[in-house]
Amino acid sequence: MAQKEIAVVTGSSTGIGFETSLTLARNGFHTYATMRTLEGSRGSEQITDIAKSENLPLQVIQLDVDNDKSVSEAINTIVKEKGRIDIVINNAGYALVGPFEETSMKEMKGQFETNFFGAARVMQGAIPIMREQRRGKIVNITSMGGRIAVPLDSLYHGTKFALEGLSESLQYELGPFGIKIILIEPGAVGSNFWKNLKIASKTSSSDNIDSPYKQMVNNVSESFKQMQQNTIHPSEVANVILQAVLSDNPDFRYVIGKDATAILEARKSMPDREFQHFMKDQFNL
Ligand SMILES: NC(=O)c1ccc[n+]([C@@H]2O[C@H](COP(=O)([O-])OP(=O)(O)OC[C@H]3O[C@@H](n4cnc5c(N)ncnc54)[C@H](OP(=O)(O)O)[C@@H]3O)[C@@H](O)[C@H]2O)c1
Repeated sequence: MAQKEIAVVTGSSTGIGFETSLTLARNGFHTYATMRTLEGSRGSEQITDIAKSENLPLQVIQLDVDNDKSVSEAINTIVKEKGRIDIVINNAGYALVGPFEETSMKEMKGQFETNFFGAARVMQGAIPIMREQRRGKIVNITSMGGRIAVPLDSLYHGTKFALEGLSESLQYELGPFGIKIILIEPGAVGSNFWKNLKIASKTSSSDNIDSPYKQMVNNVSESFKQMQQNTIHPSEVANVILQAVLSDNPDFRYVIGKDATAILEARKSMPDREFQHFMKDQFNL
């Protein structure tokens, strides 16, 4: 790399974002490891300590993807300091779980605000800069759940399918300006994601003992527990992201993990009805 490229990673306090920020910095990218909370944040302290001890080109700055002002201030800071943005990794996200019927509009909008509009907000900030440069790569972390859907996770899938659709359209729109869009589709990753699952408040309420979805919630929770026993380390995702951003001609999609590869192959090879039976078996429905 002749000149140090400038990378911005959202949601760097833990998991995939934390590992990706370090991996990019270790491979010569000047990396802005952004996170929504700086004060008292263990993630901020940890990543700063590692960066200092390894002498990495990594800076931590505040960026809450839900907040217009926070996103524009972060982007302005980076442009003021470095004059360019080469790589954006839209990683920040969480999963809202629960039966659709028991999920409030506020919870649904919150899920879209972070996972979909958060990425859109950061892209709208970075695209004009990349277009002027006639160069840039935007990496959107979706999921295997951006192409197949499991029960009781409808809003999460909604956000990830939406981000896939947005990205697919943008690859044509931005290609002429030298901006590449890349999708990262991991299967289950061993991060705080599972601990951070947001359960719809009605579903977790003690008044909900007669929920018609109770049996389904129990069955699906069991499958979720099994998924968590077969995870890959977030650094595996970070390494694939690194390969994608280093490539002059990256693929549009990167599927990561045996689970993701197997389920997406099944999806490809089966007609809808057969795939539905296959999924019902997986979730004891
Ligand atoms: N883990 C998996 O199995 C898996 C599989 C496929 C895809 N993914 C996707 O991978 C991405 C990263 O997840 P992860 O596994 O690394 O989970 P994680 O360990 O829970 O990390 C999520 C990160 O997103 C941040 N975040 C949440 N809301 C934010 C906001 N409004 N503004 C800025 N940052 C925000 C969190 O910050 P705080 O510390 O402040 O909460 C945290 O840094 C997500 O988009 C997720 O959907 C995960």
